[in-house]
Amino acid sequence: MTVRHFLTDLDLSPQELTEVLDLADHLKDQPYAVPALAGPQTVAVVFDKTSTRTRVSFAAGISALGGAPLIINPGEAQLGHKESIADTARVFERMVSAVVWRTFAQIGLEEMAQHSGVPVVNALSDDYHPCQLLADLQTVRAHFGDLAGRRLAYLGDAANNMANSYLLAGVNAGMDVRIAGPDGYLPADAVIAAAQDRAAITGSSVLVTTDPATALEDADVVATDTWISMGQEDEKEHRLSLFGDYRVDSAAMSRAAEGAIVLHCLPAYRGVEISAEVIDGPQSVVFDEAENRLHAQKALLVWLLVASGLADEATTA
Ligand code: CP
Ligand code: NVA
Repeated sequence: MTVRHFLTDLDLSPQELTEVLDLADHLKDQPYAVPALAGPQTVAVVFDKTSTRTRVSFAAGISALGGAPLIINPGEAQLGHKESIADTARVFERMVSAVVWRTFAQIGLEEMAQHSGVPVVNALSDDYHPCQLLADLQTVRAHFGDLAGRRLAYLGDAANNMANSYLLAGVNAGMDVRIAGPDGYLPADAVIAAAQDRAAITGSSVLVTTDPATALEDADVVATDTWISMGQEDEKEHRLSLFGDYRVDSAAMSRAAEGAIVLHCLPAYRGVEISAEVIDGPQSVVFDEAENRLHAQKALLVWLLVASGLADEATTA
């Protein structure tokens, strides 16, 4: 059986994405229903960048599945200093059931997966944050009851990991995705092309624009993210001057559909990429979104292990 990894949002087919979201809903309802890691089995959770939600949700989720999370903080492993990614992967696969890794370069995750006999999960790279999008989609689906045909608008730094993942995961779920950011801060052509290919399969659409009003028109879901991602701290002043027209505030929300909801992966900077009245207001579902990291990632781990032939399907009933 081929080992299944989750490195980008497109590593699940549309059907597989629905399976993961269905299991996530089941685990939200019955948190201990699926003892997939009973044994216990260890899952390595490696951080090259800081984290609150990802760290806590994977630790709690792996424990709830009957496993043991092994959290490795930035700088604690030989990885990245004295040891190659390939050698690290060959050691991990003999000791753990899966590897969850937050890092900088997407290519590093690809190398880890290439040498790993156990699933490798992207817990955020410079290019994608696919685990976050599972939680976001679970949140949107719970709110509206469906995903296909819903319009999602993302405003802000449209070249970052969240913008890319909204684009890919959104079309994978059949949503019409509109991404708005300033010139030079839009998704790369290759990401847009990959999204368009998947949109052709799911019957959804992609629109990338510099005009926030166009993106917001009739949007059911409005999303944003920090303008200064981890690793970009040196560009702070310049970045703060770039994205002002793309702030999610009451004026922006007035352009969206009535009943629109607001997503933000957090951490959020109130008064910068999003106003306090919006993120703390009635349209915001950001703390449901944060909670769903737990349920969605448990579902993902179970799904990957079963699909890879590394867990007994019977335990996932
Ligand atoms: N949204 C998210 O991934 O949060 P952390 O950086 O706190 O893990
Ligand atoms: N774009 C942000 C997401 C944080 C969860 C970053 O990479 O820092």
